Amino acid sequence: MALTNRAFRLAARPVGQPKPSDWTFAEEPVPELADGQILVEVRYLSLDPAMRGWMNDVPSYIRPVGIGEVMRAGGAGRVAATRHPGFAIGDAVVGMFGVQAWAVSDGRGVTRVDEGLAPLPVYLGTLGMTGLTAYFGLLDIGRPEPGQTVVVSGAAGAVGMVAGQIARIKGCRVVGIAGGPDKCAWLTGELGFDAAIDYRAGSVKAALRERCPDGVHVYFDNVGGDILDAVLARLARGARVVICGAISQYNAEQVKGPSNYLSLLVNRASMQGMVVFDYADRYPEAIREMAGWMADGSLRSREHVVRGLETFPERLGMLFRGENIGKLVLEV
Ligand SMILES: NC(=O)c1ccc[n+]([C@@H]2O[C@H](COP(=O)([O-])OP(=O)(O)OC[C@H]3O[C@@H](n4cnc5c(N)ncnc54)[C@H](OP(=O)(O)O)[C@@H]3O)[C@@H](O)[C@H]2O)c1
Repeated sequence: MALTNRAFRLAARPVGQPKPSDWTFAEEPVPELADGQILVEVRYLSLDPAMRGWMNDVPSYIRPVGIGEVMRAGGAGRVAATRHPGFAIGDAVVGMFGVQAWAVSDGRGVTRVDEGLAPLPVYLGTLGMTGLTAYFGLLDIGRPEPGQTVVVSGAAGAVGMVAGQIARIKGCRVVGIAGGPDKCAWLTGELGFDAAIDYRAGSVKAALRERCPDGVHVYFDNVGGDILDAVLARLARGARVVICGAISQYNAEQVKGPSNYLSLLVNRASMQGMVVFDYADRYPEAIREMAGWMADGSLRSREHVVRGLETFPERLGMLFRGENIGKLVLEV
């Protein structure tokens, strides 16, 4: 029997905050499989701030989504049909399946995962792209040492919650910056951060002075903008600033750069960007180590699961309104 797909395709390049009319949502037939292909029933989609950037027609670390193409997204699901020797029906898989219910793939970039170890949504978060970003960004670029102060922004989100917990596992003093008292209470309660700063409640600069008396040795930045500037003003000598993301700027027509960058000079500090895909050959090593921390209880994962493929545009907006705690996942 012919299957019907439901898919979001990019219709327009957004200016500022994306709106529903920037995509079309349509039912369309699922194509027949050719030799070497698999059909995946997509169960969960990863909602990521980076999706906003992929909609812009500008040079980046990955080519933009073309007008008329299925919107790019990481996904997790099960193989429903296969003409590929490396996959069997029922295999649990993750890959860039796009914002759609069924995905045909040649298997490139598709990884089999063990649902016995963790449920599918975790492979889109802590044991997936965002956890890996935290792991390599913090350990390779941030290089924290025991006793040092590590500050993480976007701390109650998918990347931030993992970066902060790994810093704690490595014996650092961890300060998280997040929006709202509930997120801050979760960071210092369940996740064991040493302190949290609610950036919506008052001056981040003043809070950093109080909560980081020895300065900031590692800053893991997910948000950019004014918060980056405030942390730059508080760096310790030799500090490392990890530029992981800048969500506060993704909808801006003119990106606001840091004005306190001379703090890098005064403090002999460095600021370095990172892209998780550069570490692909080391993913297995990182996943093994993080799965071990999850098993012994030192690393906690939280997924914020929302439902309904057709709600995708509205759900993506949650990231920019700070409505998620932990990894935002859309159940198809
Ligand atoms: N470099 C890489 O390879 C790589 C890979 C994955 C992700 N990233 C980046 O990592 C960052 C976090 O991604 P994620 O998937 O973990 O998202 P997330 O943190 O789970 O969700 C985004 C969070 O950003 C915060 N936020 C939104 N607007 C903000 C603003 N104007 N100022 C301050 N905070 C704001 C919100 O939390 P609050 O309530 O705290 O505001 C929101 O919950 C993003 O910048 C993303 O692009 C980079």
